Amino acid sequence: MSSEFRLLFVCLGNICRSPAAEGVMRHFVEENGLASSVHIDSAGTAGWHTGKRADERMRAAALARGYDLASRARQLKAEDLLSFDLVLVMDEENLRDARALDPQSLYTEKVKLFCDFCTDHSERQVPDPYYGGEEGFEKVLDLLEDGCRNLITFVKRPRV
Ligand code: 4NP
Repeated sequence: MSSEFRLLFVCLGNICRSPAAEGVMRHFVEENGLASSVHIDSAGTAGWHTGKRADERMRAAALARGYDLASRARQLKAEDLLSFDLVLVMDEENLRDARALDPQSLYTEKVKLFCDFCTDHSERQVPDPYYGGEEGFEKVLDLLEDGCRNLITFVKRPRV
């Protein structure tokens, strides 16, 4: 792979779903020897939790599957849509909010729903686990593992 592929995961608060996506993808990227060719980050459409570590419940569920979530929350900004190659959002609300940062629709093609990459699940969105129970965090990880496995194939594809 000749140049670094830049991948950004986006949710609402950047403390549950997108940091978990970042952690799962980082793990898969390292397992596949791709760490030097894929840059991974995450952000939230809201800035409420800026600077915070991922939610403790999300961190615990992820760690139990071997994923260490080390990120600090930050808010999505318009420049991210320019500087990343692919921006994967967790739900339709995130999609609307991310697209609102691109009023001229310059980056529509690179902003997509994460579940577009899922093949073992029929869900279209990664449900927000924040106000729910433990099973919600497990569901998030199930969906993320499915999509991130396919994302590895995607980032390995030959590019011109
Ligand atoms: P996330 O979950 O978007 O997956 O990080 C949420 C985190 C915080 C809040 C909502 C969703 N909140 O309302 O503070």
